[in-house]
Amino acid sequence: MALDTSRPGRRSSEVPFGGRTRILAIGGGKGGVGKSFVAANLSYTLARAGYRVVAVDADLEGPNLHTCLGVRNTRVGLADFVAGREDDLGKLLLETPEHGLQLIAGTYANLDQPQPGHLRRVEFLRGLRQLDTDFVLIDLGAGSQAATLDYFLVADEGLMVLQPEPTSVENAYAFLRAAFYRRLRLAVLGQDVRSLIREAVDQRNELGIRSPLDLLREIESLDPVEGRRLVEIMSQFRPRIIINDVERKEDIKLGFAVASVCRKYFGFEAEYLGYVNHDESVRKSVMQGRPLVDYRESSDAASYIKRIAHKLVQSMTETSSSGVQS
Ligand SMILES: Nc1ncnc2c1ncn2[C@@H]1O[C@H](COP(=O)(O)OP(=O)(O)OP(=O)(O)O)[C@@H](O)[C@H]1O
Ligand SMILES: [Mg+2]
Repeated sequence: MALDTSRPGRRSSEVPFGGRTRILAIGGGKGGVGKSFVAANLSYTLARAGYRVVAVDADLEGPNLHTCLGVRNTRVGLADFVAGREDDLGKLLLETPEHGLQLIAGTYANLDQPQPGHLRRVEFLRGLRQLDTDFVLIDLGAGSQAATLDYFLVADEGLMVLQPEPTSVENAYAFLRAAFYRRLRLAVLGQDVRSLIREAVDQRNELGIRSPLDLLREIESLDPVEGRRLVEIMSQFRPRIIINDVERKEDIKLGFAVASVCRKYFGFEAEYLGYVNHDESVRKSVMQGRPLVDYRESSDAASYIKRIAHKLVQSMTETSSSGVQS
């Protein structure tokens, strides 16, 4: 089952997700695993299905979402917001060739200080929620910088893109671990628990805390009430997994293995959203400045992207209709 992408343009009778802008962040820890490819193609697919979409390039040190979406003239972008030249994100929107799909580009950053400071990040995320759109998709850079982790944590859905390679899997776990600890630190109230976490983030700590799950247990024995509160908060941390560049049948199973490690080691659920196969046309589509779902609409890779988009929309529709707010 896939989204109906044959009728572009907004269906006027629909106000999706109770009129609330849904934010999706696409990360993965490692460079070159296909984050921008997934971000561009999901954005395009959602726009073709009739949703209004804003794709945001938050990879200010290596921006290329504009290229994937065929936008040549990036006269304004996120760098203007970071530098304080523009406070209104709505004024940074660029049109793409696809109706209903706009872009906030990541080009022309100040390379001495590309990332926004904490306060500016908060303003940025608030500004994104206020955009008059159905979806915001944030293409994250590689690594575990504070800004990258914050966007991933604040999003309604954090999507992890992995390649079936040990290095990619390693970096994905490192990213998830960093995100988990950052989320926990933001939630903690007491000083004792705070210093326990400070010790635990050193992977060679002398307390013997080796995993986030160990840490939560340790917190529970130190302060049961606070421990239970944090377990509850951390259970809402539910990254989704996408395996990209699949070439062999065994690669497909990786998503289940990662989800299982997340459950056993981290103590949280990570849903396996789907996979996308390796397709030589991807590079050609980038050279053409067209997402693969447009350039090779009937390819397997395009149908897998559509399937992922469909699953996302379905789960978000269920969430908003059950009144659950994240
Ligand atoms: N499923 C695929 N099949 C074939 N090539 C792919 C696939 N996905 C991505 N690629 C290619 O892999 C390269 C890296 O992809 P992409 O730029 O999306 O990665 P990234 O994770 O965003 O990298 P970075 O961390 O540098 O931003 C690109 O050349 C892209 O065309
Ligand atoms: Mg990228």
